[in-house]
Amino acid sequence: MTEVVCPNDTNPMGLLQGGRLVQWMDIACAVCAQNHAERICVTASIDSVKFRSPAKVGDIITIKAKITRSFNSSMEIYAQAWSKNVLSQKSYLINEAYFTFVAIDDHAKPTQVPSVKPSTAIEKGEYLNAEKRKATRIKTSK
Ligand SMILES: CC(C)(COP(=O)(O)OP(=O)(O)OC[C@H]1O[C@@H](n2cnc3c(N)ncnc32)[C@H](O)[C@@H]1OP(=O)(O)O)[C@@H](O)C(=O)NCCC(=O)NCCS
Repeated sequence: MTEVVCPNDTNPMGLLQGGRLVQWMDIACAVCAQNHAERICVTASIDSVKFRSPAKVGDIITIKAKITRSFNSSMEIYAQAWSKNVLSQKSYLINEAYFTFVAIDDHAKPTQVPSVKPSTAIEKGEYLNAEKRKATRIKTSK
């Protein structure tokens, strides 16, 4: 997903507001989850949100969202946000986070989603660690 930082997205210093960025990331992750599940999906949690660098007005923001693993009705989506300065054409990572989406049926109840088959070494690592992250998430959300 691509966005341009406009004045209405920034604080008085001309820096992209954190909440606006997370909103964009949430939409990118929702598209990812819904394409996988072929169902309406809702955000259940957002964690490990790291604001690494600021983005400035006029920058081009690219958000990459990728499913790491699905469970029964939930899916973990990893998102990265990159900012590019138009004049220098330099890009840098500004944010990363894990989103959990739950697929719901016509009665807004959680419903089964298809499994994920990791293929690369990185995908296999993310897939394995997703189970531990899910356990931590459930433990800390109670
Ligand atoms: C997310 C929601 C559907 C879960 O419903 P629920 O009846 O509590 O469901 P369950 O306890 O049976 O859990 C269903 C799944 O959600 C996961 N889940 C529930 N709460 C979670 C949390 N805080 N963090 C991560 N996963 C969570 C469970 O682990 C389970 O996953 P699994 O089926 O893959 O094992 C429900 O809490 C809800 O509708 N929340 C509001 C969502 C919303 O409005 N989001 C913003 C707008 S999109």
